Parts: sequence; structure tokens; C-alpha cells
Amino acid sequence: MKDVNCSIDHAPAAWYRTNMRRHETIAILDFGSQYSQLIARRVRENRVYSELLPPQTPPSRLREIGARGIILSGGPASVYSAEAPLCDPGIFELDLPVLGICYGMQVAAKLLGGDVGAAVAREYGRVRLHIASAEGILAHLPPETSVWMSHGDVVTQIGECFTSLARTAQCPIAAVRHKSRAVYGVQFHPEVTHTPLGRQIIRNFIYDICGCAGDWSVKNVIDAAVAAVREQVGPDDRVICGLSGGVDSSVTAALVQRAIGSRLVCIFVDNGLLRQNEAGLVEATFHDHFGMELRVANARDRFLTALADVTEPREKRRIVGREFIEVFKAEAARIERARFLAQGTIYPDVIESGHGPTGHSAVIKLHHNVGALPAELGFELVEPLRQLFKDEVRQVGEALGLPEDLVWRHPFPGPGLAVRVIGAVTPERLDILRAADEILLEELLAAGWYAKVAQAFAVLVPIPSVGVMGDGPTYEGQNLIVLRLVESSDFMTADWVRIDYEILATVSNRIINEVSGVNRVTYDITSKPPGTIEWQ
Ligand code: XMP
Repeated sequence: MKDVNCSIDHAPAAWYRTNMRRHETIAILDFGSQYSQLIARRVRENRVYSELLPPQTPPSRLREIGARGIILSGGPASVYSAEAPLCDPGIFELDLPVLGICYGMQVAAKLLGGDVGAAVAREYGRVRLHIASAEGILAHLPPETSVWMSHGDVVTQIGECFTSLARTAQCPIAAVRHKSRAVYGVQFHPEVTHTPLGRQIIRNFIYDICGCAGDWSVKNVIDAAVAAVREQVGPDDRVICGLSGGVDSSVTAALVQRAIGSRLVCIFVDNGLLRQNEAGLVEATFHDHFGMELRVANARDRFLTALADVTEPREKRRIVGREFIEVFKAEAARIERARFLAQGTIYPDVIESGHGPTGHSAVIKLHHNVGALPAELGFELVEPLRQLFKDEVRQVGEALGLPEDLVWRHPFPGPGLAVRVIGAVTPERLDILRAADEILLEELLAAGWYAKVAQAFAVLVPIPSVGVMGDGPTYEGQNLIVLRLVESSDFMTADWVRIDYEILATVSNRIINEVSGVNRVTYDITSKPPGTIEWQ
């Protein structure tokens, strides 16, 4: 069973909390469902701010944050098992609307006089919902619609207090409303796209039932974040921001600059492991276009020297991480009156790090934390994206005028091309990989595929394979280039992209013809799991 303790870190700096909570807020008590983040996103997509909170959040806290309504998420437990997480029954006394989803509905039923038991038949996937009463949470819905189910338990008795609103073939109590309070439950998942009218259900809850007006917009997010940064950073203090070329640090820098102007100083470490033109794009954007003070630390030789002859991937990661911290520290020490460090932490990072050291996410983070800075650098953190999902970060970036190719950039690993050159990392191999990678990206952009995939890149595998040049066999080209294209919504799982063969043919021809040192190109058709996205 997944860890449902959900000790989510909800202690962002007080300034930020205050600012965000001037917005209408829907609190989501997270019982550990894989869809919990999705519920938060769906609410925000409908222009109402939402936040995930631990399941046992006390009613007083919900009052304090000014919640306008509460959603109880799904979860993997059974409410009748001894260690099942429940919410504080006091939340039903707050006079706030409550919507229980799946396990959340079962929690509400159990705490308010109903009964829950194992379903006669598990329901998983799309099923037909027959609506007896299209009211409240089910208002504006037709008598029959399709919904997504994923459960083994069901509400077996609704007691005196609830009325059943809908059923499915296997589940006689598929949606309920409380007779005297604004408490609703649905056994299915309105937050997933497989429930086509799920959006209407979420809107019924936040607008009709909770009475929200919808005040969460990109402009408000920017205004709140700018105000918060100004409140946190004193009038004489300077803020340092480490730019990586990725979207999170770029949007962070643009936001902080809007708040404090020239008191922001950006540091960009050129580690020699970047893609073609990456350093140039960062300089052109932040220095030339935004007029920011940008310190570029050219540390290419230092990184390559430290990596010389290193072939073991974990060792590569360790070296890149260590050198990055050293170079960054030295650069930061030259900036006077810098008390703050702006970081592009985003909401999924906050949630994932809160799932504790045993959680799968935490393990992934540990493996991927190259490029992170240690707390002992002694700066106070400024994290203006802390409450935002990736798509919201991109919207903010666009609204702040960041160029599209930065805002829509695919993720790039902190250790850079060091983990995409298999074996020893040499300047020659890096050049070959960059040239091949650039061709792949050019062709994907030209064919309109770049934005359709989550990540696309080339990997250099230094093994010789035979080829034919002119009349005879040759082993001249010493390298294999692997093309890796994946689709993924969260990078925890991924599948290889079924791309048009014609595009692969063009990319392959161009690489073989234009990049010397490559005589074979292959396409990686491994999904994650069991593979990973990167090769190392
Ligand atoms: P894997 O290879 O584990 O990658 O499937 C999942 C996502 O994480 C990125 N990645 C990293 N990001 N530092 C990072 O900042 C790293 O060391 C690192 N390794 C992998 C990878 O590109 C993919 O988006």
C-alpha cells in the first residue's frame, strides 16, 4: 500500500501563504490517490485556487486558510481497515461544502452514519452512470453518462442522512447527497478525462455549491507573486538566481525581476555539457532582451577535466553536482548584499518531497537532484512558483514575455550531456552528440512534432559497427546514435513515441551525412517502466 500519511510540506514562507490565500481556496484532503494532483489542477483550470493538504488537517486550519469548500480525495486504503486514514469529523461541522471522491466518499459515508464494504464486483474503467436525480453535484447532467471507476470497496448503506443520486450496473450507490448539509459524494472520478462530464461536476461543486466566483488567473498569480517577493526582500537586498536554461528557473528570474528590477543577479554556469546554442539562448534572452545582470561562469574546462575518463554514471552525476556547487558558490560570493536565492521549486516538487523518504517520488528526486544547491550556502530562499503546476508556470512565462522556445522547452537533466554520452565524456564525443541532437530537434520542430512529445533527444553510444562506404566495408564511423522520443504526463511513466517513419528517415539520413563519426542511427522503443527516460 502506498504511504498515505501524506505529510505534505505545507509550510511555504508565511508571506506567500498570506498572498495566495487572499484567493478563493478549495482545500483537498489528500488520502493518497494517484489522482490527487489532478483534482487540484482541475479546480485551478476552472479559475479557483486549490491546495492539497494532509488528510488529518484540523478544522481550525481549514478555517484559517479561508477554505470555501473541501474535497476528500480518493486513496488506496479501505475505510474499514484499522490503519485507514480518516479526516477529522469536525470538518463536517464547519458549514463548508464537502465533496468526497471515491475513497473520500466512503470516508464521508462512514463518518456520517453510512456503511462501507467490499464490492461484489470491482469496477475499473469506463462505466455507464444512471442518474436518478440530476441535482447538486450532478446538476446539468443527462440521465445517463459515462464515468471512470477504479475501486474495490463501495458504500453499502447510506444510513438516515444521505440520499442516493445515481447508480451503475455494479454499484447501486454511485453518487450521494446529504439530506441536511452540503456534503456530496461520487464513487467515480470526475477529475480524469475519461469522465467526459467531469468538468461540469467540478464546476457544479466550486461554483454552484461553494459559491466561488473564479478569481484565479495568470494575472492574479503574477500580481500575488510579485507582491510577495517585494514583501520578502528588503529594499537594499539583492537576490541571486541560478539559471539553467529550463522553464522553471527562467520564469522564476522573470518574476523576480518584475518584483525587484535590477537587484536581481542571475548566474549561469556553462559546464560544457549543454546542448547546441543553449548558453547563447540564455544570454540573448536574459541579458539582451530582459536587460538582467547575468554572470556567465565559463567552467567548461573545469567540468571536462573533472569528468576525464569517468564512465560510471553515478560518478558522473556526483562530479557534475559537486563542481556545480563549487562554481556557483564562487560566483555568488562575488555578489555583494545578496541575502536571497531565487529557486524554481514548483508545486509537484513540494508535494513529492512531502511523501517521505519511503515514497517512490522521494527516491526519484534523490537520484535527480544534480543541479540543486545545498541549504548550507546560507541564503534565504525565494520561491515564487512554489504553488504552481508546470502548465501554470508556462502560462506565467508566456504572460511575462519569455520566448516560446524557452517556455515550451523539454526538460533537460542537471548532469546534461554527460549522461547522454555513454562511456567517457570527451569534447569530441560531446560535439558529435550536439550535432546529432540538433538535427533531431530541427526536424521535429519543422514537422510540428516537438510540442507533441514530452522529451526528445539523442544518445551517443561509442561502439563501432560495420558500414559500407564506396565499394568496401568500413569501421570508420565509431559511434552509434540512439534517438529517444517519449510521451509522458509526469515523467514517472513514459512511452516511446509512435512517430512517422518519414521523419525518422530524414533525421537518420541527415545525421549519417552531416555528422562525421556516426555511421548508424537507431530508435529506442523502450517504455518506462521498465526502462528509464535517460540512458544513464
Ligand atoms: P528518468 O531517466 O529517471 O528521468 O526516467 C525522468 C526525468 O528526469 C530527468 N532527469 C534528471 N533531471 N537531474 C535532473 O534535473 C538529473 O540528474 C536527471 N536525470 C534524469 C529526465 O531527463 C526526465 O525528464
